Amino acid sequence: MQLSLLIILTLIPGFFIFLWILLSIIGKFHPFPVPSFMGKYLDSNYRRIIQNPNKLIERSCITEGKRVLEAGCGSGAFTNYVAKAVGNKGKVYALDIQDKMLEQLRMKLMRFENRDIKNIFLIKGDICKTSFKDDSFDLVYMVAVLQEIPDGKKALLEIKRILKPEGILAVTEFIPDPDYPRKSTTIKQCEAAGFILDKIEGSFINYTARFIKPDFDFEKLEQ
Ligand SMILES: C[S@@+](CC[C@H](N)C(=O)[O-])C[C@H]1O[C@@H](n2cnc3c(N)ncnc32)[C@H](O)[C@@H]1O
Repeated sequence: MQLSLLIILTLIPGFFIFLWILLSIIGKFHPFPVPSFMGKYLDSNYRRIIQNPNKLIERSCITEGKRVLEAGCGSGAFTNYVAKAVGNKGKVYALDIQDKMLEQLRMKLMRFENRDIKNIFLIKGDICKTSFKDDSFDLVYMVAVLQEIPDGKKALLEIKRILKPEGILAVTEFIPDPDYPRKSTTIKQCEAAGFILDKIEGSFINYTARFIKPDFDFEKLEQ
């Protein structure tokens, strides 16, 4: 009896660790968007114990009045917290490539407790190719998204285009995500797209790297 219990207790975590490693490997070679059924797990209070929304907001420099884009908002685990932080004078554009993720956020915003939130605008689209004008946003943030995009550089160049000069790009990553990249990977990737590292805060398992769009575009100059 005790032996079978021991086997079960070893097999269950072992299965999840195996799955996590498998998804990490697949994601490295063939990045893909997380399936939409994961939306309900992403938007969970247990997760927000590890990834405190207020810390994310503080580390990303999200403040009142900012015009913000959330790239890859998913089911909106942090979107309404950000909407409250930017207040009535600010706006949050929540963009995702999957309709089914946006639908979960739409349903959430219809709940009674969110009735006062009027500054979130849902957009279906690919962050690699948006229809926003140049210099549209004060800040773009992404949580557990960048490594899911097959052409990360294209996404970052598009973000640079739609950010105002000296606008902020905040990239947050956390370790339960099978696509989790180390801090050095995120820095290298964003610097290669022309962003300047401002600050990196948080632990190994949950960090936010904040970058600035220079007010001088070397890439355009070199063309
Ligand atoms: C791991 S989920 C994270 C969702 C949300 N940021 C969160 O932390 O709960 C990544 C999200 O990015 C979206 N995504 C992936 N590639 C994208 C792209 N090219 N453009 C826009 N959204 C994308 C996926 O559909 C998915 O909802």
